Amino acid sequence: MTYPIQASGPAVTAQDLTRRFGHFTAVDGVCFNIQRGEIFGLLGPNGAGKTTTIRMLCGILLPSAGSATVLGVDVASHPEEVKQQIGYMSQKFALYDDLTVRENLDFYARIYSVQRETRKERLDVLIDMAGLTGHDRQLTANLSGAWRQRLALACAIVHQPAMLFLDEPTAGVDPVSRREFWDLIYEMASGGVTVLATTHYMDEAEYCHRVGMMYESRLIALDSPDALKAGMGGVLLEVECSDPAHAEGLLAGVQGISSVNQHGLLLHASAADAGMAASIRRTLKSSGISVQRVEEVIPSLEDAFVTMVHREHTRG
Ligand SMILES: Nc1ncnc2c1ncn2[C@@H]1O[C@H](COP(=O)(O)OP(=O)(O)O)[C@@H](O)[C@H]1O
Ligand SMILES: [Mg+2]
Repeated sequence: MTYPIQASGPAVTAQDLTRRFGHFTAVDGVCFNIQRGEIFGLLGPNGAGKTTTIRMLCGILLPSAGSATVLGVDVASHPEEVKQQIGYMSQKFALYDDLTVRENLDFYARIYSVQRETRKERLDVLIDMAGLTGHDRQLTANLSGAWRQRLALACAIVHQPAMLFLDEPTAGVDPVSRREFWDLIYEMASGGVTVLATTHYMDEAEYCHRVGMMYESRLIALDSPDALKAGMGGVLLEVECSDPAHAEGLLAGVQGISSVNQHGLLLHASAADAGMAASIRRTLKSSGISVQRVEEVIPSLEDAFVTMVHREHTRG
């Protein structure tokens, strides 16, 4: 029986999605929806459960509990239909080193049964999109990391999927190439493709329309990057002082400061209001730490993440 792919409605729904490996719960009761055309980011450290979530959504791994749909299709009961309709670039996407750029694309086009008549034209468009024009006869083994990523992306979308899953697509790629890769993602999203991408690069999550923060198997926050930062509440104070490691512990105990974390040689303190700067100076000076600067800064997504994790821990 075929199962109808739906052209409207959410691209992805996840309801209490859970996956256990033995006694270990890798994904724990995750709930979210992704709208059509949305670029959705799953952000979290290694081991948070991002890949396991993606693999369930791609119909590769059965959920232990809960449910999920992709393009209206239930992933647990119809995994094969899901696999045919999506593009999936896994963390270890298989490119064949002994094939040329075009041969790799052609290989994936055949796997996804792209019609012979449209195949050549499709490949030309993808090679152009990936910035590989003129390199299509080059051996894949000789490509740089950034070029490999773009070729892998092109292979993952050779059948023009409406939904694309990217698992850490830019890991190990330099910042400029990462930016270019994201330009490609935007281009696809503006053409109506829905994208779920995982990353542990905070700057990259800023490119997403909405970001789900994953930590220790759970989704601890979900909103637009701006709303996540605004959701921290209070103000963020940046502290430059002579002994940040010692200062971190001292400030964590100050009333009105909800969390403190090191930011290179600086400290970021989540405080109730800007007036807390005076208490910070006083506390540090009384412990013999000299303070160069305390000033309010605009929080980054990393600050928001640290705050959410802290809340998660103090909630108990
Ligand atoms: N097949 C498996 N068997 C046992 N444990 C697994 C398996 N796959 C993942 N895990 C564990 O689940 C946790 C989440 O892994 P993963 O989803 O890969 O996290 P992330 O992609 O966020 O780094 C990790 O602790 C990992 O070791
Ligand atoms: Mg992973």
